[in-house]
Amino acid sequence: MTRSREDPPHRAWLEVDLAALSRNARRVAKHAAPARFVPMVKADAYGLGAIEVARALNRLEPYAFGVATPPEGAELRRGGIERRIIVFAPSATAETSQLLDARLESAALSLASLAKLEAGARAASTRIPVHLEVDTGMGRVGLPAAEAAAWTPRVASILSRGGVTLASVYTHFHSAGTDPAATSLQLTRLRRAASILREAGVEIPFLHAANSDAVMRDPQYHLGLVRPGIYLYGGRRGTGGPAGGLSGAAGGLSGAAGGLAGTAGALEDPERAARVRARVLEVRDLAPGSTVSYGATYTTKRAERLATLGIGYADGLPWRLSNRGRAIIRGIRVPIRGGVCMDVTAVDVSGVPGVEAADVATLLGRDGGEEIALAEFAETAGTIEYEVLTAIGRRLPRHYVGGPPDAADGSR
Ligand SMILES: Cc1ncc(COP(=O)(O)O)c(C=O)c1O
Repeated sequence: MTRSREDPPHRAWLEVDLAALSRNARRVAKHAAPARFVPMVKADAYGLGAIEVARALNRLEPYAFGVATPPEGAELRRGGIERRIIVFAPSATAETSQLLDARLESAALSLASLAKLEAGARAASTRIPVHLEVDTGMGRVGLPAAEAAAWTPRVASILSRGGVTLASVYTHFHSAGTDPAATSLQLTRLRRAASILREAGVEIPFLHAANSDAVMRDPQYHLGLVRPGIYLYGGRRGTGGPAGGLSGAAGGLSGAAGGLAGTAGALEDPERAARVRARVLEVRDLAPGSTVSYGATYTTKRAERLATLGIGYADGLPWRLSNRGRAIIRGIRVPIRGGVCMDVTAVDVSGVPGVEAADVATLLGRDGGEEIALAEFAETAGTIEYEVLTAIGRRLPRHYVGGPPDAADGSR
């Protein structure tokens, strides 16, 4: 459909299908049960809108919501979310009061951060629930698994002072989508660290590790809680990175190429939840030999009809899609011509009859029988699905469809 009455009047927008997102979440929750689930809604729910997403998912009674920073948690509280909220990447300079004011739980990424949280909460005459991260191979934060025997007595001692309650112990997988042996080793290291803690009398209410890839692949990773992110938002390529990209380890683009099909206990691919759309600002007929956009990197080979779309890199359409990306218009895939600009982008509609101003083009997602999948979009732009979603610009209004009445009341 090129235009419909339900389309918002904007020049471009991100359409978020809350019903699809909720179905993805329900599928994960059911698949991982009896493990509880913690939807990761950090980075504004991967760009889709943290408050709207959290409101929609709250109905599924998740154990908690996962955010990265205290302000992200505070935003959810202001949006009326009363459930537990866990801050997974608190900075060393974050004030404990920020956590306490918004009733947030916090990861402890080191002995120093555990001690600081404990002292801050005790000074405020309260207790804060903490989630202890164990580094089993990610190598960025967390108490090193190999040194658990050394740090366990100090953890036990800090816990005994009264300012913190240990709510869980967890780790984060680096290659759950691509390297089962490494993931299994990480799990073994987590279990070993947990048993050293338990032997020292530390009670661990929940042990957890699974991101989307791990939830999808193997029930052994489900443990007490699962922490899916990208799966909820319709992404299926996790930690492998771009195909042939950073490590070259990614198995390919389609969900099946990732090795899921036929894997015992695997979860099916998620439904798509995000769609990026833009209107045609203008249609122009260019003579052969005309140049297009900055740097004149495209020259028409014959008489060509170009449609200028009201979307550019400031809206999250990557500049890397210049002369490479595609759009769908009137049900037909068309190529981007010339450089993606800050606010506008030209596509070749010579082969599409009847295109006119205000028509709606789809840059990401399905339109009629055609689709530009998140994986394809990311690969063409030389990036990963996570970055595509989180880079969708603040300037694009979010338009919610398919949600419960209080979450789908239009754009913002
Ligand atoms: C601690 C933690 N858990 C879970 C996730 C969710 O990962 P994914 O989006 O791959 O499911 C993330 C995201 O990076 C994370 O940082």
